[in-house]
Amino acid sequence: MSVVPVPRVAVVVVAAGSGTRLGAGEPKAFVGIDAHSILRHALRGVFAGPLAQVVVVAPAGREGDALTDAREAAGARRDLVAVVAGGASRQESVAAGLVAVWPDVEIVLVHDAARALTPPEVFDRVVAAVASGQDAVLPVLPMVDTVKRVRGRSVLAAVDRDELAVAQTPQGFRRDILESAYRTARTAFTDDAALVQAAGHEVFTVPGDALSFKITAPADLDRARTAALPIPGVRASLAPVTLSARVGVGTDVHAFGGDGVLWLAGLEWPGEQALSGHSDGDAVAHAIVDALLTAAGLGDIGTHFGLDRPEFAGAHADVFLRRTAELLGEAGWRAGNVSAQVQANRPRFAARRGEAEAALSAALGAPVSVSATTTDGLGFTGAGQGVAAYAVALVVPQ
Ligand code: CTP
Ligand code: MG
Repeated sequence: MSVVPVPRVAVVVVAAGSGTRLGAGEPKAFVGIDAHSILRHALRGVFAGPLAQVVVVAPAGREGDALTDAREAAGARRDLVAVVAGGASRQESVAAGLVAVWPDVEIVLVHDAARALTPPEVFDRVVAAVASGQDAVLPVLPMVDTVKRVRGRSVLAAVDRDELAVAQTPQGFRRDILESAYRTARTAFTDDAALVQAAGHEVFTVPGDALSFKITAPADLDRARTAALPIPGVRASLAPVTLSARVGVGTDVHAFGGDGVLWLAGLEWPGEQALSGHSDGDAVAHAIVDALLTAAGLGDIGTHFGLDRPEFAGAHADVFLRRTAELLGEAGWRAGNVSAQVQANRPRFAARRGEAEAALSAALGAPVSVSATTTDGLGFTGAGQGVAAYAVALVVPQ
């Protein structure tokens, strides 16, 4: 059962054009203004306007994409959304949209998705004018340029600017008048107001809005990109919680040649050559820290454990991982899991893998798995000059 009352208004949003002049390589409605498409931005204005059934006319084959945008824009009004396939011309697309309008609807607005930034107030004005008794309503802007009538290269006359206006959408109509005008139209018209006027009806104007400009050429898209307001993150709130998890990657390299004994993957390796480094040179631990910190957007190992922090000189993996877990916690995250790989000729890792995983997992407070490989004699690890380590980490909200 719908929680929204059945509206008397429908907005037909025509979005079935190919966008030839924009030349973006896909139908214009799905070209991005920012992370969101032209259609998604257009529907923001539509749904912020008067309560209405919304019929999106999409390019044939792209109905699913249109429905995704429409449902997201509709929010709680998603029951009011319908998507139909358009035709070869704008006029055919409008006709296809009209078929889907619900029987109870009395006022129909037709709107170009290409006028993506049209403010909701324009929809309100058009609906109010039709509701007050006007059969056909057209939003217009005054003409600011001086206009001349010309033939070839010759100026015939100046045209009185007061008699000119720039036509926009949404154009609003009494439903019965629009439908009968469409039924009887035999030729192509530039817009719905012209079609209805040709059927013998008077068309009235309401003020349009500069933001209702139509995205036609690439320069118009640039203008829209500058003028568009960001759409709030509706996706995140609709998405399952697990999707707010984030991943990060980290790598580290240390050369053999340090003093003392080798520390790697949280373990001491008696009899193995030590790695050099500010701390113990444990490349596996450092790669894990970088992966975790970048996953949480908290900078990297240098941000928190740099050379200017003498307390970490000579520190082992447990200190680094415990502190990283604290940093995550302070920022509202916890580690999900970490997968690390060490590339080295030595030490021979297999026999102590479980021990290393247990030590690293205990220090972090989350599962850490470690694999090891040699590099077939290639590169600095193959030459036995040092070790390389890689880690991928998942962090999840606490
Ligand atoms: N439109 C439509 N069906 C068509 C042609 C156009 O629904 N067969 C829609 C467009 O999606 C657009 C509006 O009508 O929202 C205005 O058309 P226009 O700006 O000309 O868009 P396109 O036809 O896509 O662009 P172009 O003419 O450059 O190909
Ligand atoms: Mg066109």
